Amino acid sequence: MNVYDSDRMSELLSEVGFAKKSSVDDADMVILNTCHIREKASEKLFSELGRLRLIKEARGRAGERLIVAVAGCVAQGIGKEITRRFPEVDIVVGPQSYHELPDLVTRVLEGGQSRLVQTEFPVEPKFDFLPGTRSHQGVTAFLSIQEGCDKFCTFCVVPYTRGAEYSRPVSEIIFEARSLVESGVQDITLLGQNVNAYHGLRGNNRKASLAILIEALGEIEGLSRVRYTTSHPRDMGANLISAHERLPILMPHLHLPVQSGSNKILKGMNRGYTVEEYLDIVDRLRDARPDIALSSDFIVGFPGETREDFEATLTLVERVNFAQAYSFKYSPRPGTPAADLNSHVDQEISAQRLACLQRLLDQQQLNFNQSKVGTKLKILIEKPGRNCGQMIGKSQYMQAVHVEGGGSSSPLKVGDLIEVDVVAGSKNSLTGERAQK
Ligand code: 5AD
Ligand code: SF4
Repeated sequence: MNVYDSDRMSELLSEVGFAKKSSVDDADMVILNTCHIREKASEKLFSELGRLRLIKEARGRAGERLIVAVAGCVAQGIGKEITRRFPEVDIVVGPQSYHELPDLVTRVLEGGQSRLVQTEFPVEPKFDFLPGTRSHQGVTAFLSIQEGCDKFCTFCVVPYTRGAEYSRPVSEIIFEARSLVESGVQDITLLGQNVNAYHGLRGNNRKASLAILIEALGEIEGLSRVRYTTSHPRDMGANLISAHERLPILMPHLHLPVQSGSNKILKGMNRGYTVEEYLDIVDRLRDARPDIALSSDFIVGFPGETREDFEATLTLVERVNFAQAYSFKYSPRPGTPAADLNSHVDQEISAQRLACLQRLLDQQQLNFNQSKVGTKLKILIEKPGRNCGQMIGKSQYMQAVHVEGGGSSSPLKVGDLIEVDVVAGSKNSLTGERAQK
């Protein structure tokens, strides 16, 4: 979602005369768009600010200016602390207020106010102030359809930084999707912290589910692929599961974080489902779409996690067989209920468990990729590869595929949707050759 937000910020600022630069040396302003989900992500901000302070001081000595802005969830969470500790920061703007950036920047440039903090909360107005059309480059794009979260998992800062759940109206999303397609996009990933809780307004004051929205997107000519992330198991309703069978535009890939394989830990996390319920959803998804590639997030070392709880997670992973996954050591976040628990797991033990889980998940990812060797996959070409004539694209299962395009009378181009014969598979990518017709 930060990638999407950063794109929107740069679109907004282009309206007041700014253009994206690839290096700080060429820039008049730097925006650090931040993540607060784990401590490591916030630490990155502090080290970047230290680096920018030196650049800003050097600019000052040369009589030049550098505006420094901090955006995103760290800004929302600890905006006041940032302005206190980092005098080089001119603007602090939360994820629900970045539509105000052009105004904030103008005010800083005019010198009226030197330090501006904007961390208002409601999600709704932001979208009303963002341009309806998009100027996007590339064949794949993100599109935020839902923001915020009312689930309050005990480990998570999102409900406090992104605010309450909000779904954008269907018409607004279709309009944005059409403008993306007009600029060359063929593959859209719908975004939301709880994307499958989507319930945006459609005509006659009725609500649309995510399945209905995807069906409507399927009518946009030129749009070939739709995905959505991130989903919560509790909102994986029957009509969304059957959408994976019914809607050809919906890709057979789903990120459905389970977090843990122990019912005791899931309860402590306030996830609102049991291992048995999660496995039932997986079975129903596979009935609807047998080849669906599943991915997940895991947290190890949540307070109170015993050896048995961790082993239950390994058992769940063995049972589901994931195509891909992200796994993290539990990171206590100030202000969340779990941070106050006094049954914290020893860091060394958490590190060992994480390594053990990641070995198993890596092996499953490799197995999944290798299971595609000898089959044909549909690849959307996204960019040139490193070798001459080679192109890189994505399979319907979200795998990166290197395609040798040389030798053919019609060289491959970005945006081609082609069938390839998969000839090799490693953990992170596949190699394919253009299928002979
Ligand atoms: N510690 C570790 N991982 C976390 N996540 C969210 N909060 C924390 C935390 N406090 C992970 C979850 C979530 C993903 C986006 O980040 O696995 O699904
Ligand atoms: Fe955080 Fe996701 Fe839980 Fe919401 S559902 S609190 S975003 S982990």
